[in-house]
Amino acid sequence: MESNPKFMVPIIAPSILSADFNNLGKDIEMINHSDAGYIHFDVMDGVFVPNISFGIPVIEHVKKIAQKPLDVHLMIVNPDGLIKAFAKAGASIITVHYEACTHLHRTIQLIKKQGVKASVCLNPHTPVDVLDDIIDELDMVLLMSVNPGFGGQVFIENTYKKVRELKSLINKRNPECLIEVDGGVNFETGKKLLENGVDVLVSGSFIFASQNPTETIRKLKEL
Ligand code: DX5
Ligand code: ZN
Repeated sequence: MESNPKFMVPIIAPSILSADFNNLGKDIEMINHSDAGYIHFDVMDGVFVPNISFGIPVIEHVKKIAQKPLDVHLMIVNPDGLIKAFAKAGASIITVHYEACTHLHRTIQLIKKQGVKASVCLNPHTPVDVLDDIIDELDMVLLMSVNPGFGGQVFIENTYKKVRELKSLINKRNPECLIEVDGGVNFETGKKLLENGVDVLVSGSFIFASQNPTETIRKLKEL
């Protein structure tokens, strides 16, 4: 197994999908004062995934109090029409799904034109080699370790193999590109993901269901 030298301190991206929406400001302040590196927003349209979460108004409001970059994960069909609006709302990173983009190269150009970092997400069934002709353009690749749509699901073990394949592609073609993994991340899966070369851990239910989310974020960062 390719080990990941410990020089890379992981970025922890709490997913607010599992936050307390009756007290969202409190949870954002917790993240602001924690060791988290990003705030992860799971935007769902009820078409690309069988769930609807939240959209631009939530991101605009959080942006007003956020002290961390907004990492926006678009689980929506036809994202092109909303890239500008998400960028204007305050996204620092926009991730689109490979499976949702007919003209992915154009979509990536559109994101970068807004001055926002561009990232592509692969569902569990989508092989890493679909990125062969776009990897050079990417700032990050997000690998889903659950089937998108819901927090609190069980981690898909095949993700470790995909991380190793993606790490090898990135080392060859674009060493600056980050690897982010999202879904079922906890202390056990997180540690193994980092050992395989992951840079960013998204975690929702594991952080927000814990006794002390600030402490959980700190421990994830120290894995
Ligand atoms: C799935 C979402 C979740 C969320 C994190 O569509 O993208 O993966 O971010 O979920 P858990 O609760 O598994 O960390
Ligand atoms: Zn996500």
